[in-house]
Amino acid sequence: MKILLTGGAGFIGSHVLLCSLEAGHDVTVLDNFSNSTPNVLKRVEALTGRRVELHRGDVRDKVLLNRTLATGNFDAVLHFAGLKAVGESVAKPLEYYDVNVSGSITLARAMADAGVFKLVFSSTAAVYGDQADMPLTEESALGDPVSPYGRSKRMVEQIFEDLCSSDQRWGVSILRYFNPVGAHFSGQIGEDPRGEPANLVPYAVQVAAGRRKVLSVFGDDYPTPDGTGVRDYVHVMDLAEGHLAAMHYLARKTGYRIWNLGTGQGHSVREVIRGLEKVTGRQLPWRTEERRPGDAAQCWADPSRATAELGWLASRGLQEMLVDHWRWQEQNPDGFPK
Ligand code: UD1
Repeated sequence: MKILLTGGAGFIGSHVLLCSLEAGHDVTVLDNFSNSTPNVLKRVEALTGRRVELHRGDVRDKVLLNRTLATGNFDAVLHFAGLKAVGESVAKPLEYYDVNVSGSITLARAMADAGVFKLVFSSTAAVYGDQADMPLTEESALGDPVSPYGRSKRMVEQIFEDLCSSDQRWGVSILRYFNPVGAHFSGQIGEDPRGEPANLVPYAVQVAAGRRKVLSVFGDDYPTPDGTGVRDYVHVMDLAEGHLAAMHYLARKTGYRIWNLGTGQGHSVREVIRGLEKVTGRQLPWRTEERRPGDAAQCWADPSRATAELGWLASRGLQEMLVDHWRWQEQNPDGFPK
């Protein structure tokens, strides 16, 4: 297939790019490198021995999108381009709604202009908000996603749902990611947070590497088995394979469909710390802090719809995620060459 990846140089986009090239697809990347670097694409090209066509620019740039989509007979677009830092979204809501929501509308318009109606969209389990009943199915009631980041993702889901109702040619797959971690086993590509990492595993591996002093555990009085927050960590390579499965589904179907991409297993912050200590052979300094505002006590997926309809099931467990994340960290202590 011929596919366009917006945000193809980002953490998840780059792993999907690699899997798509390995599966024999022709891939074009559109990225403005606002949170990545072209060196990511060089690494993917070296790993796969294949060339990536790059269009550099912003997903809100309609002229660029029209030009990009007109250059090839794309079968589908996988849309990763967006802003994703929860804390930053509270400080810069307009920026988040503009890039995430306006960017998605601009993309959908340009796709329609070019006669491309198949789209895979990166959403998040944050749309479920804080819930008591686990696991979460796609039919679970939605809570308040709390942050402008989470809300922007929910808004885009709704926009695409309306779009599919309005025009039968559209096929949109919504993938609700749980907590993506890990890296490609080569250690050549991985998550490269700018500045202080906001998420648990990226922060914890930097502590293990001695780059940061101590890990803060946000709350130990949650109603969970050990009092710390429980999440469904999912290997980024499993996620990547989920995208290919969703794309193949779209080749056969139209309409709007949502899938949870998680393992179905919850792990606490303490379990992650213990796991990383085992993987690295180092003791991880940590201390308990206040709960972080907006954090849910627990969150894990029921991925059975993705298994039934896409034939997708995460195959990599927490240990493998941490081994791969650590390899990436050790081989690239400062991330990608800038
Ligand atoms: C957040 C986003 C999610 C996004 C994900 C990226 C929300 C509600 N969630 O998930 O959409 O996909 O980031 O991976 O918007 N923790 C610590 N110390 C730390 C960092 C985190 O104890 O330094 C704890 C948190 O309290 C939580 C768990 O670790 O219990 C996971 O946190 P994090 O990795 O930040 O992910 P989420 O907040 O679940």
